[in-house]
Amino acid sequence: MEKKNLKSKYYITTPIYYVNDVPHIGHSYTTIAADTLARYRRFLGDEVFFLTGTDEHGQKIQKTSKEKGLKPKQLADRVVKNFQNLWKKLDITNDFFVRTTDDYHIKCVQKAFEELFNKGDIYKGEYEGWYCIPCESYYSEIEIGKDRLCPACGRKVDKVKEESYFFKLSAYQDRLLEFYEKNPNFVIPNTRFNEIKSFVKSGLKDLSVTRTSFDWGVPVTFDDKHVIYVWFDALLNYVSAIGCNKDNDKFLNIWPADAHFVGKDILRFHAVYWPAFLMALGLELPKHVVAHGWWTVEGKKMSKSLGNVVDPNEMIEKYPKDAYRYFLLRNVPFGLDGDFSEKELIERINSELVNDLGNLVNRSLTMIEKYLNGVTEKPKSIVDNSLEEKAFETFEKVKKSLDIFRFDEALSHIFEYVRYANKYITQKEPWSLKKQNKTPQLNEVLFNLTGAIKFLSGIISAFMPDTADKIWSQLGFEDSIKNYDYRFFLDFGSKEKLKINKQDVIFNRIEEKEEEDSKEEKAKKINIDEFFNVDLRAAKVLDAQSVEKSKKLIKLSIDIGENKPRTLVAGLKEYYKLEELVGKTIIVVANLKPAKLMGIESNGMLLAAKDGKSLGLLTVMEDVKPGAKVG
Ligand code: MSP
Repeated sequence: MEKKNLKSKYYITTPIYYVNDVPHIGHSYTTIAADTLARYRRFLGDEVFFLTGTDEHGQKIQKTSKEKGLKPKQLADRVVKNFQNLWKKLDITNDFFVRTTDDYHIKCVQKAFEELFNKGDIYKGEYEGWYCIPCESYYSEIEIGKDRLCPACGRKVDKVKEESYFFKLSAYQDRLLEFYEKNPNFVIPNTRFNEIKSFVKSGLKDLSVTRTSFDWGVPVTFDDKHVIYVWFDALLNYVSAIGCNKDNDKFLNIWPADAHFVGKDILRFHAVYWPAFLMALGLELPKHVVAHGWWTVEGKKMSKSLGNVVDPNEMIEKYPKDAYRYFLLRNVPFGLDGDFSEKELIERINSELVNDLGNLVNRSLTMIEKYLNGVTEKPKSIVDNSLEEKAFETFEKVKKSLDIFRFDEALSHIFEYVRYANKYITQKEPWSLKKQNKTPQLNEVLFNLTGAIKFLSGIISAFMPDTADKIWSQLGFEDSIKNYDYRFFLDFGSKEKLKINKQDVIFNRIEEKEEEDSKEEKAKKINIDEFFNVDLRAAKVLDAQSVEKSKKLIKLSIDIGENKPRTLVAGLKEYYKLEELVGKTIIVVANLKPAKLMGIESNGMLLAAKDGKSLGLLTVMEDVKPGAKVG
């Protein structure tokens, strides 16, 4: 079959997620990044195919399902919903959702396996090695070290010996290196590409691609004792989902992948094994494998045992989902590790989304409403088109950044533009133009601002689709923003006349809870001067008498270094005998206003520690003179 030359097709994938866990911030990060690129390529006019899905086979899933008393497929059916629902909530625009337990996928994997076996690229042998069950991976002696711990997860590995089919990975070493040489941007970022190259240069061993030790996997058609290794199975999702191979039109129109998004931990599978499988199958290789870093949370590794796993569902209930998308992509240079902190998320919402973007939209639309009855029109001629020029420049910069998958950089260019537009308002002072009746000038400024906001709605639509829609409809558009590509947004006059439809602000300021907490705490705290206002003194108990008719009170006579003893009434009866108190040096608040208790005036208060059951009077360890200051 002929391959249609669709120059503008763009195929994007996320990793397929294991179904033994619920989605967390890390999963949402990859998917949001891929979704952003998918939306952006559509904005450029490309025909995008965007794929995500779930990886449902393997020992780990079999084990988890057993622990939960479920069949593996039942577990998969349950967990897959968590992913699908989250993607829906996050407005993920995947064109298809692949599940490795789906029939078409299983058939595709079996077919590929047979094909490679028949070609001699897969052969039968015996495997012995150190195996990590949770990671489903064998490791070398060097990798596991003296303690025999998995280099990926740190758990103990087991020595496993089994009959296995092998993929002749060693035969592809030179071809891989040659391919890397010819495609310097195959792996992004470059630092990680270098790691991959040195791994391949250090020598590739054949790869065991079947298991006999468990059965939750795709069976080898001609030897059903074996199930196919989970990574051979999983990687093939990228082709099974689009028709499996060259016999299929859909496949021909979409393959090869333009960008496989992966986390750094699974780069080797995508940048070494996957291209080798594809070479063996005679299929084109992907254009880019884009590896991102890992998220920690408030400085710590995310883990169930630490209880700090961030649930994206919770985050988007608490904050606007666009703010969550924005934060993840803006806060970390794509490729590096990042740290998630709600405090920083709130800071970005308040400063960039509310103050910069929100404010620009809000004040511009308010002026258009107030000064022009909500209507802007393209002037016959324009004196100052700096905003339009700057928009074009910004678009070019964003394009450059996204060509190398630097989402953070692209956003920083966009927000530079937002600040530029805000400055334009301050410089042009539309309110003064209005006052001075300079109508043509005022019209031009507000037309330019409308253009700038329209441009922004387009350029942010890949990153913050919800916000883009809101701005778009406030500009008065009634059809979908998706009907337009970048050209419409770059041309300020693409719509001669606009009747705006101002609504609520696009982002609300978030009051920082921690700030409130600390305000409360601050209220509880006192400063040193306040502390020294309390006059604490050592006092000797001269006499102790029971207060009649009181179950609690004792009347003390104390020497506090004054010329005569003081009387003090305290609730000590339940805790001390009278004679125990006499002669003790206790601590007293000396400058308390007098109070009457059971008709007796008490001049001060003694200090005692109480924990609900017992009470301990505060005394001094060394002899000090009555009246000695405590501090
Ligand atoms: N099933 C395999 C992928 C097969 S693709 C053919 C898998 N699944 S996974 O669910 O364990 O991980 C999926 C992705 O989540 C990986 O890209 C991984 O890097 C990413 N993350 C898992 N924890 C992460 C963070 N803490 N931070 C960022 N991404 C992280 O691997």
